Amino acid sequence: MTHPATSLHTNEFSRRANSYLKHNIIQEQVVKKLIQNIKTKPKNILDLGCGAGAVYHEINWEIDKFTGIDQAKNMCTLHPRDKKVILLEQNFENENLLKNLGHFDIVISSSALQWANDIEKLIENISKITDNIAFALFCDGTFNAIYTLTKMPNFLPNSKHLLKILKKYFHIKHEKIIYRLNFKDNISKFRYIKQSGVSGGERKLTLTQTKSLIKNYPHTYLEFEVLFVWGKKI
Ligand SMILES: C[S@@+](CC[C@H](N)C(=O)[O-])C[C@H]1O[C@@H](n2cnc3c(N)ncnc32)[C@H](O)[C@@H]1O
Repeated sequence: MTHPATSLHTNEFSRRANSYLKHNIIQEQVVKKLIQNIKTKPKNILDLGCGAGAVYHEINWEIDKFTGIDQAKNMCTLHPRDKKVILLEQNFENENLLKNLGHFDIVISSSALQWANDIEKLIENISKITDNIAFALFCDGTFNAIYTLTKMPNFLPNSKHLLKILKKYFHIKHEKIIYRLNFKDNISKFRYIKQSGVSGGERKLTLTQTKSLIKNYPHTYLEFEVLFVWGKKI
């Protein structure tokens, strides 16, 4: 699946790295749930879209090595560093890069895989370098009311489609959660969307569309659909 906002959004993450940390309320809850449900205490971890280190911060067991990949320089700058941490400022869809990293006890990714241009290929490549996965990603139920109102194409992946792909390679346990975040007014909602890094899509709205959306948005909340998957290779 290709979406036009992809090339934009990584620059966006870099540009908004500090502001992301203040507007990632949902992502914080997501990463906690994702990591709390990993029971195997894996020692050699690969984190795709590691950002400023949310996954690394949640790991509360002894590890040997933590490799994080993120193509946004300013996010990597905020990631904790120590002798166990290797940070690669690269595209996690780069097949050669993944192939040459060796084998991992687990590949984790929180709030990042929804940006993949070819999620099917990426999952296949991941299955070659690990026996275990833990992913949480935003799906196309996110900002549902906005997409319905504006009739904009939704580039986020569909959870059923994702599960179908994942089940080709992994025995999985999954959970889908709809989060609702309440705001005092519509302007704050759209400011949140802009700062949070969840959607690259809102930048495609014209000024008139944005104004109309701010006026007509029907709910006090924004909704986010998150798919959690924990899997073991078939
Ligand atoms: C919403 S942030 C999540 C960061 C962190 N995992 C967390 O839970 O807070 C998504 C991150 O994925 C990174 N990202 C998105 N697509 C990427 C790609 N193709 N290659 C590498 N990094 C990517 C972005 O730069 C950004 O830092």
